[in-house]
Amino acid sequence: MLAAVITKLKDIQKAEGADLIELRLDYIKNLNNKKLKSMIKHSKKPVIATCRKNGEGGFFNGSEAKRIEILKNAANIGADCVDIECSSDKKSIKSIIKNKKNAHIIVSYHNCKETPINIKNIYNNIKKLNPDLIKIVTNANSVTDNFGIFDLIKTANNEKRKIIAFCMGSYGEFSRILGIIFGSRITYASVKEGKESAPGQLTIDELNNIYRIKKINKNTKITGLIGNPVEHSWSHIMHNAAFDKLDINAVYFKFKVDKLKEFIDYFRGLNTLGFSVTIPHKIEVMEFLDRIDNKAKEIGAVNTIVAEHGKLAGYNTDCDGAVKALNQKARLKNKNVVVLGAGGSSRALAYGLMENNANVTVLNRTIKKAKSIADDFGCSYGSLKNLKKADYDILVNTTSVGMYPNANSSPIPAALIKKNSIVFDIVFNPYKTKLLRDAEKRGCAVIPGIEMLVNGNAMQFSLWTGKKMPEQLAKNKVMNYLKNASHQN
Ligand code: ATR
Repeated sequence: MLAAVITKLKDIQKAEGADLIELRLDYIKNLNNKKLKSMIKHSKKPVIATCRKNGEGGFFNGSEAKRIEILKNAANIGADCVDIECSSDKKSIKSIIKNKKNAHIIVSYHNCKETPINIKNIYNNIKKLNPDLIKIVTNANSVTDNFGIFDLIKTANNEKRKIIAFCMGSYGEFSRILGIIFGSRITYASVKEGKESAPGQLTIDELNNIYRIKKINKNTKITGLIGNPVEHSWSHIMHNAAFDKLDINAVYFKFKVDKLKEFIDYFRGLNTLGFSVTIPHKIEVMEFLDRIDNKAKEIGAVNTIVAEHGKLAGYNTDCDGAVKALNQKARLKNKNVVVLGAGGSSRALAYGLMENNANVTVLNRTIKKAKSIADDFGCSYGSLKNLKKADYDILVNTTSVGMYPNANSSPIPAALIKKNSIVFDIVFNPYKTKLLRDAEKRGCAVIPGIEMLVNGNAMQFSLWTGKKMPEQLAKNKVMNYLKNASHQN
């Protein structure tokens, strides 16, 4: 179920898309019994009454006795759920449970700093109090912190205990949805961007309209983007819209991954379609897979993982996605192309361009990496400084320079962009990078990274589902998303 977190009374009307509302009483100014009664009585949705204490992500300033009294009153007045922290005095917790009337009591644990290794003991201690729901929320400092929380959800399911569990923070964002697939009962959402009550909290709109939270269930197949950072990505908008359109029971997450091997080891046993892979994991991921497709092997980078009969296979859709995007503006045969950067994406580009008989020069900050691509594919190479002397028809940026949030950076000074050339930036957020804005001023034809992203995602979608992605719909969804000023990075 989806609970809207209400920190201001006037926001209640924005909780239309939620199943429940969590009244954060610790945020409400001049709270008294009359006000509490009116809030609970007038709510059109079931209410969770929470009065979070300092130190557990809350703002309540009064005495502990006053806080307990507020929670007791909430149960008396008719709140559907009352949330009390397990760190509260045990007598108070027991007395709230004893006098709960029709309310369901949530006994909760919040750790805003970390996911402690003794989390199972905390769960066992809450269990002894026998509440209706156990809530455990910790901060993830690594993707692996989520795994301990998922294991707790599984334990609770096996013990027929109702649990709400997820991780906060950017490493834990996906757990707010994936936890529901595993059996966590409630996920919490803000009424709109900027109104989050905890780090990593998504909005009601994102949960309903991008992740389709109400449609997911224990059979929903898992897929998503493995990278770091992933905040800037739009692939979740495209893939989830396509799953929705074709009525496929799958969901696409953004997985911020710091420990790649541990992530792959954990997820290979789950109900997954596969994954997309981005910066900085495209090369390293190859050593953790069971099979690599020939083309990806030749390129030396994987951006797509497909779950095939319990095994994980690596593919590369960057190469064909980029060539298709370039072909919209230029024929590649005998063209002089400079590729900036020498990571996994550069490998895919250089391979595809050489395959199409272009003359390729890879220029990179670290020359050694450019040389390695040149040695593998037979192209030229140099340092970024060589751009001054380079004569080219097409310039391609594969470095991450200019990517959100550094939208005003460019890998090269505007003066080095050759007038009237073709400039392609694989960075897709912002829609037009500084490099492309500079290039347009110099009369160049530009190709935004979204073109390659859509092509590559469509190929991934087919590999996972055997179906054709509704590309125009996926692209339109991203464009609509961008129209919202707050996403115009
Ligand atoms: P991907 O797999 O998506 O290609 P990557 O392997 O991390 O990502 O490669 C990123 C590329 O961007 C690298 O070539 C990197 O240069 P180095 O090889 O010298 O590290 C390049 N890059 C990143 N930040 C850069 C910067 N500030 N200036 C120039 N090049 C940069």
